[in-house]
Amino acid sequence: MAPGTEVLPLTCLMLLLLCRAPGAGAQRGQDFKLHQPQDKVSVKAGETLTLNCTMSGPSEPGPTKWLKGWGSGNRTIYEDTGFTPRVTRAVYESDTDFTIHIRDVQPEDVGTYYCVRFIKLLSGGNEVFRRGTGTEVSVLAQPSPPIVSGPNQRTGLRQSVTFTCTAGGFFPKDIGVKWFKDRDPISSQLPQVTEWREKSYNMSSSVTVVLGEGDVPSRLICEVQHSASPTVLRGTYQLSRVLRVSPSVDVSADQMSPIELNKTTKFTCHVKGFYPENVAVSWLEDGVKMKVQNDSRPSVLHRGLFEQRSQVEVQATEERNGSVFTCLVVHDGQAPVKRSAILWIASLDQKGLSKWSQKNNGVSELLGWGACQGGCLV
Ligand SMILES: *[C@@H]1O[C@H](CO)[C@@H](O)[C@H](O)[C@H]1NC(C)=O
Ligand SMILES: *[C@@H]1O[C@H](CO)[C@@H](O)[C@H](O)[C@H]1NC(C)=O
Ligand SMILES: *[C@@H]1O[C@H](CO)[C@@H](O)[C@H](O)[C@H]1NC(C)=O
Ligand SMILES: *[C@@H]1O[C@H](CO)[C@@H](O)[C@H](O)[C@H]1NC(C)=O
Ligand SMILES: *[C@@H]1O[C@H](CO)[C@@H](O)[C@H](O)[C@H]1NC(C)=O
Ligand SMILES: *[C@@H]1O[C@H](CO)[C@@H](O)[C@H](O)[C@H]1NC(C)=O
Repeated sequence: MAPGTEVLPLTCLMLLLLCRAPGAGAQRGQDFKLHQPQDKVSVKAGETLTLNCTMSGPSEPGPTKWLKGWGSGNRTIYEDTGFTPRVTRAVYESDTDFTIHIRDVQPEDVGTYYCVRFIKLLSGGNEVFRRGTGTEVSVLAQPSPPIVSGPNQRTGLRQSVTFTCTAGGFFPKDIGVKWFKDRDPISSQLPQVTEWREKSYNMSSSVTVVLGEGDVPSRLICEVQHSASPTVLRGTYQLSRVLRVSPSVDVSADQMSPIELNKTTKFTCHVKGFYPENVAVSWLEDGVKMKVQNDSRPSVLHRGLFEQRSQVEVQATEERNGSVFTCLVVHDGQAPVKRSAILWIASLDQKGLSKWSQKNNGVSELLGWGACQGGCLV
């Protein structure tokens, strides 16, 4: 070989090195264009995101990748050699269209994505050659169905009770919450919004309601409005779940006292206007438990409130004179309510007296009615 022939390949090699050096590459890359057309993209959670990137013009060999973020903390979202289960290319193996699809987008996919063309360095690594201007991706996520919660225990009338409505996992942060009791709006404070995971929010909104007797059939409604949800989302709460309405109790007799000896009479205990349904009614005769003859089932009175009647039948024996009959009502585990009636038995004397008085009606008249007022017969 001639001495000169050896020089040529060496020059070539040196040129090649130069060509692959960044400075020289830029020169050849003048005509190379990388186009990332989307500035901002919004996509709903669960849907597929398309990130566009096209390239034209000659370039040095090297990979193209999609990166999320730039600088420290960047992540490779897609490269031809990697395994990326959620990401596919729009045009498979295209040299010019590097558009990708990311399916089942989640709030944590929020960020800025860059289409990046690298060139392979002889040393083995890659160097950024061109990058797109970045596409800012926001993920719209609709809130979970609102849930309204109340106290763990029932509460009585005219007490303030706090109810809370929660919904989570939404983006963006703005959210509207309205409360209603049946159709009537209730004022509430602004919902508390807290960040939950990356780029997703939870909210909590509370109202205080004073419970009334007519609230058994009522319900609270929490309405949530969010840009990612096509409809208003509603959570409801049946107020009967927390309400306790205590009964009014009264005892009545079917005959006027005093009762004639050996006649039977009935006492009725009327337990009225209570909620919930569970009530236990019992009777005591002078403090001793009695057998109940007629116990009705609770029935609906009005506005969801119940009533119940319980009856005892007693014979007016002489030894029962002055006996106390007590109706004992235990409603929903509360302290018992008692109402009593006393059985008076007319004595034979009294009967005689009344006969006598009937006989002597004429005398009364003779004496003049006025003289007898205030209790001639007693
Ligand atoms: C993005 O790329 C896809 C697939 O190549 C194409 O159908 C679509 O029109 C492109 N959209 C934009 C905004 O360039
Ligand atoms: C991406 O991050 C790696 C290390 O985390 C870093 O070496 C590299 O330079 C970054 N690339 C870009 C384009 O910011
Ligand atoms: C936020 O909301 C999500 C979805 O409703 C729920 O699973 C999560 O427990 C909530 N996190 C907090 C801290 O409330
Ligand atoms: C009442 O009943 C008792 C016992 O059953 C009987 O001894 C008595 O004579 C009765 N009295 C009247 C006034 O009927
Ligand atoms: C029980 O009482 C109700 C009314 O309180 C009455 O309608 C019914 O006939 C009574 N039943 C019996 C067996 O006495
Ligand atoms: C029942 O008691 C009242 C009041 O003490 C009395 O006037 C009446 O005579 C009594 N009746 C009988 C049957 O003993």
